[in-house]
Amino acid sequence: MTKTELKLWVASLPKVELHLHIEGSLEPDLMMALAEKHQLELPYANIEEIKNAYNFEDLQSFLDLYYFGASVLKDEDDFYQLMWNYLLKCKEDNVVHVEIMFDPQTHTERGIEFGVFMQGFKRAIQQAQQEWGQSCLLIMSFLRHLTEKSAIETLQSAAPYLHDITAVGLDSGELGNPPEKFTQVFKMAKELGLKRVAHAGEEGPADYIWGALKELDVHRIDHGVRSIEDPELIEFLIESQHPLTVCPLSNTKLKVFNHMNEHNVLQLLDLGLMATINADDPSYFGGYLNANFFAIIDHLPVEKHHLKKLVENSFNASFMSVEHKIMWLEKMGRY
Ligand code: HPA
Ligand code: ZN
Repeated sequence: MTKTELKLWVASLPKVELHLHIEGSLEPDLMMALAEKHQLELPYANIEEIKNAYNFEDLQSFLDLYYFGASVLKDEDDFYQLMWNYLLKCKEDNVVHVEIMFDPQTHTERGIEFGVFMQGFKRAIQQAQQEWGQSCLLIMSFLRHLTEKSAIETLQSAAPYLHDITAVGLDSGELGNPPEKFTQVFKMAKELGLKRVAHAGEEGPADYIWGALKELDVHRIDHGVRSIEDPELIEFLIESQHPLTVCPLSNTKLKVFNHMNEHNVLQLLDLGLMATINADDPSYFGGYLNANFFAIIDHLPVEKHHLKKLVENSFNASFMSVEHKIMWLEKMGRY
């Protein structure tokens, strides 16, 4: 198959996305519109200037803009619009099931109540479910640059909304904030019946992946590309089949890899790790799920069997029911 044929084929497949920060799907046009609505000053004159600012040196330089961008989100309708716009992209990219991360502390720290964003998210999700059968779960992520105490308070604030939350996650600045800092809150989440994921081995070392596995008892590792530096960890991940939610465009934008042709996702996949492809923060990193597949097709020796495995892995790595997994994998087999 040519690269063009591979792209058309993968675009046509029903897919799953497992690593997506809803705040990272805030497009410049919505940012401008909400700034105007709430009479907020942005340091950008137009959409072009916003896009030009998205040149990052590392994770922290991105996070600074990402948290700033999120400050235009204020009322229930803003969060509805944010979620709705992303779910429309799912429809466009054939993402039939998505597990979306949101960062409560980014909003509660600005005085926005839990119910404001939860109700906005929920309204959009219900509408997409009704209109085209979109399947969607939520992952509440703790900001690791804040204290564990703040994460515990967040978990407590989430009590009235836990029936709408499937898992907890861990994101933000990785270096200096190892998983072990959050052992207690992840234990509490487990006792509440929540699933667990954590960012690890993006900028942080392979040791942080061990920490997430052993201390936080996670079901999946977000990113995890630095696992390659630890042969013992690679052996473990091949055996355990803990999924890695890899984000190619994110990794090149944040200089985890200098160029897409240096990305190790195919290497991880060929070694037998359960790698998946995801967009992370599509508005900031230059593309949604299909664009991430297209980027690896363009720059790596990707073959059809790789794409098939990556997409199957996402279904298997998801928190959807076994019956739904079987149904979708059977459907996929027909493509
Ligand atoms: N890493 C850490 N924190 C994040 C990311 C990421 O890729 N995206 C949004 N918050
Ligand atoms: Zn992420």
